[in-house]
Amino acid sequence: MPYTALFTTARGIEEIVARELQKLGGEGWERWSGLSGWVKGTVDSPLTLARLCYCARTVHRGVLVLAEGQIRRTQEGLEDLYELVKSVDWTEWLTPTTTFCVRANRHGRHQFQSPDIERVSGQAVIDRIMEQAGHRQKVRLTNPDVLVRVEVAGETCVIGIDFVGEEALHRRGYRVYDHPAALSTVLAAAMVLMAQWQPEERLVDPMCGSGTILIEAALFARKVPGGFFRKDQFAFRSLPYFSGVNFDDLLLEWDTQAEWQVRAPLFGSDLSPKHIAGAQQNAERALVADTIEWQVMDAAELPQRFSRGSVQCLMSNPPFGVRSGSPARAREAHRLLLQVAHDVLGDDGRIVVITPHPEWLEDLAPYLDFALVQRYEVLHGDLPAAILLLRRANAQVGTDQTEVHHS
Ligand SMILES: C[S@@+](CC[C@H](N)C(=O)[O-])C[C@H]1O[C@@H](n2cnc3c(N)ncnc32)[C@H](O)[C@@H]1O
Repeated sequence: MPYTALFTTARGIEEIVARELQKLGGEGWERWSGLSGWVKGTVDSPLTLARLCYCARTVHRGVLVLAEGQIRRTQEGLEDLYELVKSVDWTEWLTPTTTFCVRANRHGRHQFQSPDIERVSGQAVIDRIMEQAGHRQKVRLTNPDVLVRVEVAGETCVIGIDFVGEEALHRRGYRVYDHPAALSTVLAAAMVLMAQWQPEERLVDPMCGSGTILIEAALFARKVPGGFFRKDQFAFRSLPYFSGVNFDDLLLEWDTQAEWQVRAPLFGSDLSPKHIAGAQQNAERALVADTIEWQVMDAAELPQRFSRGSVQCLMSNPPFGVRSGSPARAREAHRLLLQVAHDVLGDDGRIVVITPHPEWLEDLAPYLDFALVQRYEVLHGDLPAAILLLRRANAQVGTDQTEVHHS
């Protein structure tokens, strides 16, 4: 029997998530009726959803959907919600001794808040089980056996079992050094997939900070599951539904897809010795230190390090100059990035940049013979930003990448 699954992700990368999930398994992955950051599809079994949560790298959370419907935005919406939650047969997921807790996310304007959603939903679960099975289900607010997830966006409401847990999947578990402006691992992975980067191609991040993009690229090249370093934190492990499954063994089996011997030519540099030392520590923790070269260097020196044509991909997250630093210096860093890309990339080279100032790059690109291929509007934390994919204007590329796509 097919099961509906919802994945939540960073706003703007739904198309990339759908492509990644398509490759990992399951069917029909697509943006949920136009909603930002939601991708929907079907899986043949709950265990497949557990595997997708463990292996995927562009998602925040996976939920097995038990009910979906419309609720009003007014106070009466809480009554709609109560009925929707109560319509679910919870006994398949909650045995009499199981503890549970409801967590809610709300997007849009409503006359109620997330704690109201959690309170009303929790009561509906308890009432339904009391009526059906005659016992009062126990609530536990920390480390429950089952996390019930309620996602509300506008009038759409989705109710299900959270397979991931309190910590969303962008927390990979390898970051020991925290850069003050670190990029989300999920966005970094999306940039790698967007560029269709291949592990034999040289990939350079000349403003690498703590190295997130390169570490994600290395883990992708080695097919290391996204959840590899956070094995104990998955909510699916404590679901009574899987009581007969030995996840210690199963996760090790899923790990056999990894190809640790793969070496990819990855190079990261940054002005700051502190950030480069941090990047090195993160790479060691992520078990990819042997395939990434780090250097303290001004990005302006990149052409002295690499000859024209020796780099296929340049990916970066230059300083934003929004909350810290100066906008003038951030603008100069953007210009520098394009200039050095021009100097080191081959004819087939690609640039992928995440920036809240896409216009700085788009305006300059034609002067350096780069053309915009794709632009994704995303949220970097709560800051609107864009991920741009650029190629040399005269590049011979496949038909799917000759026109600008705005996602
Ligand atoms: C937004 S941060 C990158 C964060 C990184 N993606 C991460 O996840 O940790 C931008 C970085 O650019 C570096 N930077 C700024 N100007 C530079 C330049 N001219 N050459 C090299 N690095 C530079 C800064 O030191 C900073 O670490």
